[in-house]
Amino acid sequence: MVDVRKLSFIGGGNMASALIGGLISKGLAPGCLWASDPDLRQRERLTAEYGIHAPADEAAVVRDAEVVVLAVKPQYMRATAASIAPRLAGASPLLISVAAGITHASLTAWFPAGTPIVRTMPNRPALLGLGATGLYAPPNIAAAHRVLAETIMAAVGATVWVEQESQMDTVTAVSGSGPAYFFLFMEAIEAAARGRGLSPEVARRLTLQTALGAATMAQHSSETLATLREQVTSKAGTTAAALAVLDAADLRGIVAHAVAAADLRSAELAAEFGAT
Ligand SMILES: NC(=O)c1ccc[n+]([C@@H]2O[C@H](COP(=O)([O-])OP(=O)(O)OC[C@H]3O[C@@H](n4cnc5c(N)ncnc54)[C@H](OP(=O)(O)O)[C@@H]3O)[C@@H](O)[C@H]2O)c1
Repeated sequence: MVDVRKLSFIGGGNMASALIGGLISKGLAPGCLWASDPDLRQRERLTAEYGIHAPADEAAVVRDAEVVVLAVKPQYMRATAASIAPRLAGASPLLISVAAGITHASLTAWFPAGTPIVRTMPNRPALLGLGATGLYAPPNIAAAHRVLAETIMAAVGATVWVEQESQMDTVTAVSGSGPAYFFLFMEAIEAAARGRGLSPEVARRLTLQTALGAATMAQHSSETLATLREQVTSKAGTTAAALAVLDAADLRGIVAHAVAAADLRSAELAAEFGAT
């Protein structure tokens, strides 16, 4: 459980709401949570839905916070930092960024010297508590701060640490963009099912349940994915016939190319946002 007296969010949109809901469901008292957002309706929603503090006064949100989660869109991060940073001087809360593509070096340059900062990259399923979040912090960040950041992000799903910040681009390419890859594959299976005469409802139901069943089987098993695949593929059977087509089309090579393209694009975007 997260043990903090005051945890504040800057930006009260989708990702902040997911984390707030997750933290409360894990036992953190709503009274420990604060959020700042320029949108009055957003603040009213956060108070009504979660019972947290969401005043108009940004200074009150940040004051004496032990943890500040930066949850604004990447393009607003620099301006947000300029507004928040003076309020943090002398306070040194743990800062957690969830913003895609904002580098640790940029955050370090934008906030007071010595502020402990952890950069994270959650993904969209975090909104349902089924996220996959990558975390990065340089070696000088204390173990206690790492544990705290990880425990907070674990409120919305699985967490993994990367050792090199450049690997956050790969995290973005795998789990950040990953839901779209699976949607595409499911779309393709659904279309094939419809194309072969199944009704749209049946095609969708079979596709989604099969994806869920396969992911759940993999999660509950210690076998490699290759072994699980082999276990459901009998020699000269139906699955083998389909896999032979996918292999002949070099599906693995195509996926490797796609992930590499996303990785590269993530690095390019980080360079655009990150100019200090
Ligand atoms: N949603 C996802 O699936 C996802 C996945 C991975 C990472 N993230 C990261 O999470 C961050 C937030 O994304 P989101 O989807 O939650 O965006 P969002 O729903 O647009 O929420 C951001 C909120 O921050 C508010 N805001 C803007 N400037 C602010 C300021 N100076 N102080 C306080 N609040 C401010 C925005 O208000 P206005 O609308 O009035 O500008 C908006 O309500 C982004 O950096 C994104 O990269 C999101």
